[in-house]
Amino acid sequence: MSWSCSGNYLCISSSVISSNHLTPSFNTCNLVSQYKEQNREGYDLKRTTSVFACNSLKAPSYKLDIGQRRKHHVVKKRNNICAYYSLKSPPYKFDALEPYMSKRTLEVHWGEHHRGYVETLNKYLGKNDILYGYTLDELIRVTYNNGNPLPEFNAAAQVWNHDFFWESMQPGGGNLPILGLMQQIEKDFGSFSNFREEFIETALTSLFGSGWVWLVLKRNEKRLAIATTTNAVTPLVWDDIPLLSLDMWEHAYYLDYKNDKARYANVFMDHLVSWNAALARMARAQSFVNLGEPKIPVA
Ligand SMILES: [Fe+2]
Repeated sequence: MSWSCSGNYLCISSSVISSNHLTPSFNTCNLVSQYKEQNREGYDLKRTTSVFACNSLKAPSYKLDIGQRRKHHVVKKRNNICAYYSLKSPPYKFDALEPYMSKRTLEVHWGEHHRGYVETLNKYLGKNDILYGYTLDELIRVTYNNGNPLPEFNAAAQVWNHDFFWESMQPGGGNLPILGLMQQIEKDFGSFSNFREEFIETALTSLFGSGWVWLVLKRNEKRLAIATTTNAVTPLVWDDIPLLSLDMWEHAYYLDYKNDKARYANVFMDHLVSWNAALARMARAQSFVNLGEPKIPVA
């Protein structure tokens, strides 16, 4: 038995099977109907397009692509799934955000809450291997199920949301956005101070219960916007492109700020937010969302 990490996956196998190439295209309708069928009738792997869940985890003597995975799914008995999602660490030390976010908050928020979502997700995947093999983004979109979430959705989205949140902050954060991101904020909000005020106001007044505040790039409108989502919902399911997030669940701020959510949101904007991360995310998004005027070559 050996363990290895690869991207979002933690592989456990008697002979390591790389999961880098396991990013299937999928048909949501087929998958959901298979999911329901599987749950109604139990684990009859002959009836599904399941992957190489295996009895003794014996590796095939060839690399499996997606087509092969769908052909080689006949397994008499299933004891194990051989890949899970891993708990990613924040990109800084636990005390690196002090005094604005304490080491204790990171220990509890990442070490207990975030870890709990990963473990819950992996338990679900252990029961429903039909969902095995997707990237986390794909899994979220599939299990959102057009607004009728499957049980796995909550844990999957919370894992993604927390990974994204940790990377939305940095030691020495705050200050002002830079380069094209500042220009886009000024274009879409009028000024940075307008954006800042709207972001904090939204965090304090638009969320009822636990949830998230986001700066997103609206793919179709080609503009920035502030959005909120409740519970575990993420803008990914609406095809918006997230650039920043602020966790407004009580576990994110209570140890440091008690019920003073206003102070927490202001400190996030003044000392924690990573404009570097947001700029990098916008730059990646611009590879498929053109925010400028069409560039027409002149003959
Ligand atoms: Fe959280």
